[in-house]
Amino acid sequence: MAVVTGASVGIGRATAERLARDPGAELVLVARREELLRELAGSLPCRATCVAADLTDEDAPGRIRAQIEAEHGGRLDLLVNNAGAAWRGTFAEGGHANVRRHMELNFDAVVRLTEELLPLLRASAPSAIVNVASTAGRVSRARTGSYSASKFALIGWNDSLYAEERAHGVHVGMVLPGYIQTEGFPATELRQKALTRWIVSKPEKVAEAIHEAGPGGKAERYVPRPYALAAVLRIVTPRLVRRVLSGGAAESLTTSTAGDSASADAL
Ligand SMILES: NC(=O)c1ccc[n+]([C@@H]2O[C@H](COP(=O)([O-])OP(=O)(O)OC[C@H]3O[C@@H](n4cnc5c(N)ncnc54)[C@H](OP(=O)(O)O)[C@@H]3O)[C@@H](O)[C@H]2O)c1
Repeated sequence: MAVVTGASVGIGRATAERLARDPGAELVLVARREELLRELAGSLPCRATCVAADLTDEDAPGRIRAQIEAEHGGRLDLLVNNAGAAWRGTFAEGGHANVRRHMELNFDAVVRLTEELLPLLRASAPSAIVNVASTAGRVSRARTGSYSASKFALIGWNDSLYAEERAHGVHVGMVLPGYIQTEGFPATELRQKALTRWIVSKPEKVAEAIHEAGPGGKAERYVPRPYALAAVLRIVTPRLVRRVLSGGAAESLTTSTAGDSASADAL
């Protein structure tokens, strides 16, 4: 039995479709848009139930646990913490309010759901957790500071959890996507130019990496794999990376997100 958060579209939906192909698969799909979850559940070749929830709500983790216990016998083999979002903007524009909303969804909600489900994962061991971080959790660009802060935090917590849960039979894997074309991260600026189009990848590739980092037992996967180079360069040649990322040409590397249009109302 697996729980996938953010399963209504994008990487989460592709992950549900990938996991559903495993023999004996059973899924709990989580996101806010119930219609999309129901439509996906109906199209999968395995049993799938839905929990329509805003993961930042206080009662969301408890509702998901109740669903696993009531509908799936309380067994949990895999938790995929995938739901997340980005709202671009400089710190001077967004301030602490923008940092807070990123932390609430991309970090706090992940920690709260994991805390609620860890007893089930331990009881079902060998089991796994996959945290979907980002290459932005290794390298920060202008106007992505709040998003990067939440993903840097997720990575730090993930690595600690990996070491702690080994003894309990709960594998903790992490996936770090680069530019992946989805509803939330359309990467329009990069796809418009022949020079940069090739660096944008597909949700199905991330889904495969999530499968490797969960049931496959891998600790860490960049998607596409060469993005690992960005993380290495940030450590080995920090001055060079800083110079490139603070130059004018780096502007196109901060692509707009779906969150941007809703940005003003939500802050
Ligand atoms: N695409 C990229 O380029 C990229 C790169 C690096 C990392 N990532 C990470 O990959 C993960 C998935 O991103 P994606 O590209 O698939 O984005 P997406 O297309 O925007 O999908 C995000 C998913 O999260 C759900 N979600 C958002 N806010 C939620 C909330 N408050 N409560 C419950 N569910 C919520 C959305 O469903 P509802 O709207 O129905 O709630 C949706 O299913 C995120 O953690 C993102 O940071 C993406």
